[in-house]
Amino acid sequence: MPNAVLRGEHLVKTYGSARVIDDVSLEVLAGETLGIVGESGSGKSTVARLLLRLVEPSAGDVRFHSGGREYDLRRISAREMRRLRRKLSIVFQDPYAALDPRMTVRQTLAEPFAIHGEVPAGGVAARLRELLGEVGLDESALGRYPHEFSGGQRQRVNIARALALRPEVLVLDEPVSALDVSVGAQVINLLRDLQRQYGLTCVFISHSMPLVRYLCDRVVVMQRGKIVESGTWREVCDAPRETYTRQLLAATPELPGVAADRM
Ligand SMILES: Nc1ncnc2c1ncn2[C@@H]1O[C@H](COP(=O)(O)OP(=O)(O)OP(=O)(O)O)[C@@H](O)[C@H]1O
Ligand SMILES: [Mg+2]
Repeated sequence: MPNAVLRGEHLVKTYGSARVIDDVSLEVLAGETLGIVGESGSGKSTVARLLLRLVEPSAGDVRFHSGGREYDLRRISAREMRRLRRKLSIVFQDPYAALDPRMTVRQTLAEPFAIHGEVPAGGVAARLRELLGEVGLDESALGRYPHEFSGGQRQRVNIARALALRPEVLVLDEPVSALDVSVGAQVINLLRDLQRQYGLTCVFISHSMPLVRYLCDRVVVMQRGKIVESGTWREVCDAPRETYTRQLLAATPELPGVAADRM
């Protein structure tokens, strides 16, 4: 059994009187992709943000294992959190909003190195070329601005940026829901390749059961701030116990363009 890299314990988040996350415990194991599915407003993004400490929990703990140590993310100093930040990366849903329109791809991809004062072995320029290769973009992309790219290409830039510092956990929050189905399928296949090549540890958030079935090792199902079902992708997607999960399955169509190797 691989170790838990990230673990949320009894997480609660309230906004005013609304308890939007209600006693959620989950762990992300080394090298796996954990899926979080659920209807809109069920708390998927909030859970992911709590795990990365982008949002402070009202109660509960988050533990992160890295370099043989366990960090209690609620109690470490701001300074230590800044140091750990690079190990915890996220790609957001909207590839248009996430990129600064005034920055070239070169500037966008170089920024994480500047922020963290890090020079990769072999230099930044070489690492940028490598990153573009990893996400399937041509080197000519470096001098271009976001508006010169399609949505799918922009999401590739976002993924490259998220991978720049070789994070230990990558959260993908509905990374293809703003894209056309065929373009989304290409990005999904890219993520599949990245999982296989680099053994990335991922949290993949989606409304789509077929996508989760395709990409994830284990799945948690959320409804109104709680986990209502969890298990392996086969258990949750092919033999769900809960009516709610079956309704989610029925609500999402099959995925054209995604290689069907999990039939
Ligand atoms: N900053 C905030 N202030 C108040 N309420 C919030 C805030 N962030 C989230 N919520 C509420 O928390 C609940 C869960 O939101 P969240 O964004 O986590 O859901 P989600 O499952 O990611 O939904 P979607 O699929 O639409 O992205 C929603 O009811 C939302 O309105
Ligand atoms: Mg969300």
